[in-house]
Amino acid sequence: MKFTIATIPGDGIGPEVIQETIKVLETMAAIGGHTFSYPLLLAGGAALDATGHPLPEETLQTAQEADAVLLGAVGGPKWDHLEGEYRPERALLGLRKSLGLFANLRPAVLFQPLKDACPLHPATAAKGIDIMVVRELTGGLYFGKQERLQDETGGWYAYDTMQYHESEIRRIARVALELAKGRSGKVTSVDKANILESSRLWRKTVMEEAAAYPTISLDHMYVDNASMQLVKSPGQFDVILTENMFGDILSDEAGMITGSIGMLPSASLREDQGGMYEPVHGSAPDIAGQNKANPLATILSAAMMLRISFGLEAEAMLMESAVEHVLNQGLRTGDIYSDGCQLTGTREMGAAVVAAVKQLEKKG
Ligand code: NAD
Ligand code: IPM
Ligand code: MN
Repeated sequence: MKFTIATIPGDGIGPEVIQETIKVLETMAAIGGHTFSYPLLLAGGAALDATGHPLPEETLQTAQEADAVLLGAVGGPKWDHLEGEYRPERALLGLRKSLGLFANLRPAVLFQPLKDACPLHPATAAKGIDIMVVRELTGGLYFGKQERLQDETGGWYAYDTMQYHESEIRRIARVALELAKGRSGKVTSVDKANILESSRLWRKTVMEEAAAYPTISLDHMYVDNASMQLVKSPGQFDVILTENMFGDILSDEAGMITGSIGMLPSASLREDQGGMYEPVHGSAPDIAGQNKANPLATILSAAMMLRISFGLEAEAMLMESAVEHVLNQGLRTGDIYSDGCQLTGTREMGAAVVAAVKQLEKKG
């Protein structure tokens, strides 16, 4: 089969992790007899430097026409002084909104060979972690009215608005409830309903949607407690359903308890399963250009792309098994390193996944 993957390397470590991911995808294409094409597109700081805008029209259009979008990361200190629509991160928001990607799936899985990289108590790590964070991605604070103004004394003030329509809550709740059917059947909806009106509407609406899913157990948790419970006993969570900003914060935390944010993939989807795939981490300016970045989050995001947007389940599983295989071999980038393992670089990690794919494929 033929697929067009609109590819946005972006900034910082983005191009480094994308390069390794394309190598793995090319190996998958050769094995499965598929043809993947990777039109390279500019977004973020790279696009600002080249075109003066973080999200050029050509990028948006090619992304809209492609079968899926694969993105590295955008942003960095070079562009931090910019404001409003010229911030590199706005490219990401523009892509999410214009592609209608309201459902962000962030699976946080502790691979058993990474138990020692998990910062939690060893007994907690031993129990395993397998959480699906379902983050609403096109509403809330990120897209509400915001403004910076001056009062009559010349003092500055600013506001951001968290707003949700019940239809936005219903559709993301259904995504979480459907996903829970294929997992252990539990959804924890995370909100701040003791304070926020938007959260009270969120909770009420999620309960209404859940009524159509009698086999799913639904509970509710305040976001402050949820962030504590994730560290205390992550095993209690299966699917976490939450709004945009809470999901952003909780997914970094969920990433770290699985060893590193460098391991956490994501899929951003619309109703028809078309989507954008990207690691949860950012452009990591502190390690950019040093062959130190962990490419596994991006490789695992590409596996999600094969599964969800292309329907290539066997290929997706092969990629995931290859990642587990290199971890079992003891290969580690710095972020997941622990004593007794072999410290390796971005390119070497990518090459090891390619080799593992070939080896596992031969074994059948
Ligand atoms: P970050 O995720 O880039 O980095 C946080 C820490 O995690 C750093 O110490 C970094 O070295 C480490 N890290 C991240 N990814 C790693 C990987 N693959 N391998 C090894 N270590 C890794 O977050 P930040 O420092 O808050 O943000 C840096 C820039 O990235 C900012 O401009 C921010 O806006 C942007 N950002 C972009 C995205 C995105 O494009 N999706 C996501 C988050 C942040
Ligand atoms: C993420 C990032 C983005 C977000 C930023 C860069 C806009 O942190 O994808 O988690 O907050 O959604
Ligand atoms: Mn984030």
